[in-house]
Amino acid sequence: MQNSDVKRTKPPWKRFRQWRFISVLLVSIGILLFTLYNSRTESFTLLRSSFVSSKPLTSEATPALPQVPTGEHPSSPYTVPYPHPYHFTLDQPSRCRQESPFLVLMVPVAPSNREARDVIRSTWGTETTVMGQAVNHYFVLGQPRDGENVEQLQKQVLEESQTHGDILQSSFLDSYKNLTIKTMVMFEWLTSHCPNTSYAMKVDSDIFLNVRNLVDMLLKSPRQLYMTGVVVRDAAVMRNVDSKWFLPVSEFPEPSYPTYAMGLGYVFSMDLPQKIVEASSHVKAVYIEDVYVGLCLRYLGIQVSDPPTGGFGTFKPEVTDNCYWTKVITTMLWDSNELKNTWTAYETQTRQCL
Ligand SMILES: *[C@@H]1O[C@H](CO)[C@@H](O)[C@H](O)[C@H]1NC(C)=O
Ligand SMILES: *[C@@H]1O[C@H](CO)[C@@H](O)[C@H](O)[C@H]1NC(C)=O
Repeated sequence: MQNSDVKRTKPPWKRFRQWRFISVLLVSIGILLFTLYNSRTESFTLLRSSFVSSKPLTSEATPALPQVPTGEHPSSPYTVPYPHPYHFTLDQPSRCRQESPFLVLMVPVAPSNREARDVIRSTWGTETTVMGQAVNHYFVLGQPRDGENVEQLQKQVLEESQTHGDILQSSFLDSYKNLTIKTMVMFEWLTSHCPNTSYAMKVDSDIFLNVRNLVDMLLKSPRQLYMTGVVVRDAAVMRNVDSKWFLPVSEFPEPSYPTYAMGLGYVFSMDLPQKIVEASSHVKAVYIEDVYVGLCLRYLGIQVSDPPTGGFGTFKPEVTDNCYWTKVITTMLWDSNELKNTWTAYETQTRQCL
């Protein structure tokens, strides 16, 4: 190497050092961003599974599956009386058979929650023909509880049912702890009322639902033995007595739940309702409805599938003006009012995006 060269330009070793520095810097930034991104998705995952998981306080779980036959009456506050011959006090006995929808949306809602039903009727409930496929929705109710103005409420629900033809009300007492019963009578109803329907979805009333993306996905999905949604795997059973989802070891000895689809919105092929109803007479009916469906599926040896293209979201991201609503299938909202505003945003985006 000549001296003149060294004077004119930077020496090659110096340039090498500079490059090395820049590369190391870039790699570091990359690693930092990657870590940040991951911790974000991880905290999101944690948040999501904080619904269902926490470190078990005890590890003395037995690996054996608790396939305890059910009785008609719950032996503890953590199980519900099911199977049991509940019957529908408000029904739509022939609508599903006559209309033969491709997809049926089943929305569990409390009798008193008229507002949520009306908001759905004016938002995603309006999507009754999507990509040439008929879509129906039904609201699934139990009986109003004492303390509510039972007679007046029941009168309102009856009128509402006559006006809209979308109410199914079963004879059990409607309560949070009875959601498993609600889900099971929903499966019973689907089994006997919708012989020419391909898919059904159980979807909560505080959910944004993009029916078009859902139908688009379903048109390419398996027609049998299929369930998808937000799939939860290996979630630890809540052993903290204060948890909303507490289950004692005596009721559920395994340390984690089976794989299941989160209750906020799961969709399934129409061969499953009957199978799940059959399985339910062999699986103890725990009160956590989505976990119970997971237990029935495990009993049947049926796997829950991840959605092919994602889209089953849980929490609303901070930024939604980037065509978010036209890309997702589900997103959890706070209440019905938020669904109203969200639907307006979604309609704007359907005009602007794509
Ligand atoms: C669940 O429904 C059953 C049947 O109607 C009723 O006996 C029971 O009290 C209800 N449980 C709760 C917690 O509401
Ligand atoms: C089933 O539905 C399809 C379209 O949804 C329709 O063409 C067909 O006639 C229906 N079959 C019966 C038996 O209702």
